[in-house]
Amino acid sequence: MHALSIAEAQEIDTSVVPDIHAYLAGLRTNGPIARSQMGFIVALRHQHLDLITRDITRQIETEGKLIQGITSGPIFDFIKSSMLFSNGDVHLRRRAPVSRIFAFKLMDAMRPKAAALAAELVEARIGLGPIDFVNEIAAQVPARIIADILGIPRGDLPVFMQWIADTPEALGFINLDRRDEIEKSLVAFNDYVAALLADRRASPREDFLSQYVEATVQDEELSKDEIRTQIVGLILAGSDTTRGSLCMTLAHLLQHVDQWRAFCADSDGLKRAAVDEGLRFDPVIMGIPRIVVGDFDLDGYRIPAGTLLTISVPSALRDPSVYTDPDHFDIFRKDHPRWHPIFGAGAHRCLGEALARVEMEEILATIARLAPDTRLVGAFPRLAPGPIRQVDRMEVEFLGG
Ligand code: HEM
Repeated sequence: MHALSIAEAQEIDTSVVPDIHAYLAGLRTNGPIARSQMGFIVALRHQHLDLITRDITRQIETEGKLIQGITSGPIFDFIKSSMLFSNGDVHLRRRAPVSRIFAFKLMDAMRPKAAALAAELVEARIGLGPIDFVNEIAAQVPARIIADILGIPRGDLPVFMQWIADTPEALGFINLDRRDEIEKSLVAFNDYVAALLADRRASPREDFLSQYVEATVQDEELSKDEIRTQIVGLILAGSDTTRGSLCMTLAHLLQHVDQWRAFCADSDGLKRAAVDEGLRFDPVIMGIPRIVVGDFDLDGYRIPAGTLLTISVPSALRDPSVYTDPDHFDIFRKDHPRWHPIFGAGAHRCLGEALARVEMEEILATIARLAPDTRLVGAFPRLAPGPIRQVDRMEVEFLGG
C-alpha cells in the first residue's frame, strides 16, 4: 500500500485543550501520528517509544535552540556542551564519568537522608493549615538532596534554590521574554559550579564532586566547560521533573481515598508501585524528541530524513494496548513495563531515575506515616503544557492520624 505523506497527518495543538489525556486519546484513535503547527511530528503509540533507540533517529542537538533563534550565548553554549543534547562518542565521553559515580547503589544510600529531610519538612507543617506544597515541599526535596550530594554549604542554599527555579527552562522551549533573566542566572550558576569544581581539584574530599573531578581526569578529553555543564545539567534535569512528578503522584493518591488508605497501611510495600503509577498517570515529560536520520515508514506514513519527531509520553503511557483501563489511576496495576518509559530509553536513559525514585518514595511514605489524614485544599493541581510540564499550584493540609 502507498504510504501517506506526513503533510496528510492530523493536526495537534495541546496548548489550549482542557483535558490533555482525552484529547490525546481522540488523536490516537484517529491515527498513529499527528503534525504540529511548528512542523514536527508527534508519534502517539506506546510502541513508538522504540524509535528513541533505533538508528533511524538521533538525539536533537542545538536544533531545538536554533528553531527559537538562539544561536549563541550562555543557553546555546550550555546545550552545546551538555550530555543530553549530544550524540555518539561525544555523548559517551560526557556521560561516562557521571554515570560511573551516579550509580544506583550510591543513590539508594541517599534513602535515609531523603527520609530524614522529608520528616523534617513534613513534621514542621503538621496542623499549620493549608501550605504551598509545590514550593515548601516538592521543590525543596530534589534541590536540597542534590545540594547535599554536591556538598553545597547550607548558607548557599537560598541562592542555589533561586538558580534552580530560574534556569531549567534552558533545557526546553524558552519563553523568549525571559531569555535575559535565564541567561543571567545561568552564568551565575555556571560560575558557582566552576568554583566548586576548582575547590575539589585543589583539595579533594570524600565526596561526589571530588570523585567526579578524578573521573574526568581519567577521561581527559573533556574540556572544563563540558565538565561544569554536566554538573549544572544534573541539577537542572532533576529539579522540575521530580517536583512535578511528586505533586501529581500525591494529588492522585489523595484523590483516590481507598488507595491512599491502602498506601498508609503499607507505605513501604507500596511506595514503588505508587510512584510507578503516578509517573504513568500524569507524566511531567511531554515528549521525547529526536531527529529522523533516514527515511522510514511508520504505521502507513512515510517519515523523511530531517523530520523532527517527538514521541508523546502522555499518549504512550495511556495506550490501551499496553495498560488495561489506562484512564484509571491504580497503584495495584500489574501491567507496567519493566523499564518505566517516563525515564526514556537507550543511550540517554535518565541518569537520575534511582535518585528521583528515592526522593518521591521517601516523601510519600513520610506523609503517609506522619500525616495520614492529609487533604488536598482547593482546586486539583494541573500540569501546564510545555516540554517539562509544570504544576500550576497545589495546596495541602498536613493532618496527623
Ligand atoms: C521524575 C523525575 C525524572 C524524570 C521523569 C526524568 C526523565 C528523563 C528523561 C525522559 C530523560 C531522557 C531524555 C531523552 O532521551 O531525550 C532523562 C535524561 C536525564 N536525566 Fe532525568 N528525569 C528525572 C529525574 C532526574 C534526576 C533526579 C536527575 C539527576 C539528579 C536526572 C538527570 C538526568 C540526566 C543527566 C539525563 C541525561 C542523560 C543522557 O543524556 O545521557 N533526571 N531524564
